[in-house]
Amino acid sequence: MIARELISLPSFAEDVEQGLSSSPKTLPSKLFYDEAGSALFEQITRLPEYYLTRIELEILRDRGAEIAQEVRPGVTVVELGSGTATKTTTLLQAFARRQLRVPYFPVDISPAALGEARERVESLCTRVSVRPVVADFSYGFGFLRGIPGRKLVLYLGSSIGNFDPGPAVEMLSQIRSQLATGDALLLGTDLVKDPSILVPAYDDAQGITEQFDKNILARLNRELGANFDLDFFRHIAIWNPEKSRMEIYLESLRPQAVNLASLNLDVRFANGERLHTENSYKYTMPMVRELLESSGFSLDATWFDRRTWFALHLARV
Ligand code: TRP
Repeated sequence: MIARELISLPSFAEDVEQGLSSSPKTLPSKLFYDEAGSALFEQITRLPEYYLTRIELEILRDRGAEIAQEVRPGVTVVELGSGTATKTTTLLQAFARRQLRVPYFPVDISPAALGEARERVESLCTRVSVRPVVADFSYGFGFLRGIPGRKLVLYLGSSIGNFDPGPAVEMLSQIRSQLATGDALLLGTDLVKDPSILVPAYDDAQGITEQFDKNILARLNRELGANFDLDFFRHIAIWNPEKSRMEIYLESLRPQAVNLASLNLDVRFANGERLHTENSYKYTMPMVRELLESSGFSLDATWFDRRTWFALHLARV
């Protein structure tokens, strides 16, 4: 843990400095997930407008038995970015009905989340043995080699959607290169749909998503001695049909200058200038096929919810 902090602290400041000095201005989206941000994201997953988590869970619950049937018994389940594993228990139970013992390796950057994941899974799933792995994916997926047996790698929650197409292929290729014949990937993707459904999912009536977006600025105030006035920025979420993605911005509500004391940096914002904080790509089936095939996987099966809002894809090595 200490080594990671030592390495990532300088690059955190560098990333911020680079993002705020480029045009258009951006901030790295990994800044969202400090303790306050992770708590806000948990709230987002329960919002009426944010359908993603609920629907993915519904697919896992209703189709878990079919998913388990597609994978030969004797598999080890590895979950990338497991968090507290709230969604996974239902799938693990389906696997446990087909095999004597299910080794489950939740992988996450947060030891606290992994502790919770272990408790939850051990209390809810008999015959599942939990082996948490603390890892930061920015250092690669070498840890996959250390996990014995034939693997099913879960990458759920549409997290792949937060990567641009190039980096998404790059990341899945890295995962692929650590896997062997017989291994598989279960990938969650959100799907293209009417903007009247997409936009509110990223701009809810209660303003929780706005708080989540602005927490990035609050974090710069706390950690880099910045003086962003959160009242002079507004959260916006826009559907970009050409790029097939939701775009999230913070827009300056007046001309203003912000100082980041620790970086010795002054940043000017014009009235209406946008700071880009996140993209969330929405997939079509041709996009999914292209993504998986470019990364060295072949798409084997897809499960949808009844409205085809979300999909889980089984891809083989
Ligand atoms: N992975 C989530 C998603 O793309 C992240 C997210 C949800 C998000 N709501 C957000 C990111 C609002 C930025 C702003 O759906």
